[in-house]
Formats: sequence, C-alpha cells, structure tokens
Amino acid sequence: MDQIWRRGVFEISTERARLDYDVLCDFLSRSSYWARGRTRDVIRRSIEHSLPFGLYRDGRQIGFARVVTDYTTFAWLADVFVLAEFRGQGLAKWLMEVITTHPELQGLRRWVLATRDAHELYRRFGFAELAQPGRWMERFDPQQGNGGLSDDANVETASAKGLAHT
Ligand SMILES: CC(C)(COP(=O)(O)OP(=O)(O)OC[C@H]1O[C@@H](n2cnc3c(N)ncnc32)[C@H](O)[C@@H]1OP(=O)(O)O)[C@@H](O)C(=O)NCCC(=O)NCCS
Repeated sequence: MDQIWRRGVFEISTERARLDYDVLCDFLSRSSYWARGRTRDVIRRSIEHSLPFGLYRDGRQIGFARVVTDYTTFAWLADVFVLAEFRGQGLAKWLMEVITTHPELQGLRRWVLATRDAHELYRRFGFAELAQPGRWMERFDPQQGNGGLSDDANVETASAKGLAHT
C-alpha cells in the first residue's frame, strides 16, 4: 500500500506512478558518482524491483532513495539523492527517518549501504562500518548493470577519478 509523509511543502511517497523518470535518470546517469551512464531501462527495472521513496516539493520530484529488501531479514539502501538546490535543509535526514521507520521495514536483521562520503549522515540512523569486513565478499563487474553499451568510457572515467562503486 502506498504511503505519504508530509512536511510543509515537501512530501515523501512510495507511489510508483508518481516517480518522475526524467529526474531520476538525469540525476543517476549524469550526476551521480555511482550510476553514471546507467540507462533509462536499467533504472526503471531496478526501481520496479525495489521499494521506492520519492521526495517532492509542490509535486515536483526533488529527491529519491530505494530499498531492495525481502521485508523480513535484509535491506539494501541505494540511489539516495536530493537535488543540489534543495540540499542542506534536512531533507535527506527526513528521508532516512521515513525509510528506517517504515512499518514494512521493521525487525530486519541487517541493513547495508555503500557510500563514498556520506557516512556521517547514515551513522545518525544506526549504520556503521562493517564490524567484520573479512566475512563479506562481493562479486563486482563494473562493466555490467548499466545497460546497453557496457560503458567502458564511464568505467574508465570513474576509475580515473578514483570513484568508489556502490
Ligand atoms: C547526501 C545528500 C543526499 C544529503 O542531502 P541533504 O538533504 O543536503 O542532507 P541534510 O540536509 O538532510 O543533511 C545531511 C546531514 O549529514 C551530513 N553529511 C555527512 N556527509 C554528507 C555528505 N557527503 N553529503 C551531504 N551531507 C552529509 C550533513 O553535514 C548534515 O549534517 P547536519 O545536520 O549536522 O548539518 C545530498 O548531498 C546528495 O544528494 N548528494 C549527492 C548524492 C549522494 O552523494 N548521495 C549519497 C550516496 S550514498
């Protein structure tokens, strides 16, 4: 069931039909450091299989996050952003508060996320560096998951800039 949270002119909603894929694709594929080059089709499919949280001002989408989860034991938080002109007014903190208190996401054993520099934001909501990193493994192929062309140029650009993947 879709849910809405309101704070003044701002809203957070889980309603998929409200998502503005022009905003999502523009930010994720052009401005984010982790999803640069991701195609519209990949972005759409990734969101279709996630619990999405759209952030809106006067009906216009200005931010986003999604949770990949089994609703029972595990959740992965991904693709968190607030458009630049709306940053610094507590909207990401509100988004995190809404996500971590969402009724369908309670009682999970583990939440995970990856971030290059926003550790202090997430720390406020109970996230910490891996306690036992030696127990974790990943299978990572930077040439997959962006859709269409394998985006060699993007991978090279990202790695040249020393950007972390998420
Ligand atoms: C990170 C981001 C979502 C924060 O959005 P925001 O609405 O400006 O954040 P808020 O106003 O709610 O404040 C975030 C708090 O976390 C802190 N913070 C820690 N690391 C931060 C970071 N890398 N970027 C922004 N804030 C950060 C801020 O200083 C602030 O603390 P304060 O309340 O003591 O001032 C936004 O800057 C953004 O979209 N950045 C580009 C995309 C991105 O990096 N996403 C995160 C990927 S893991």
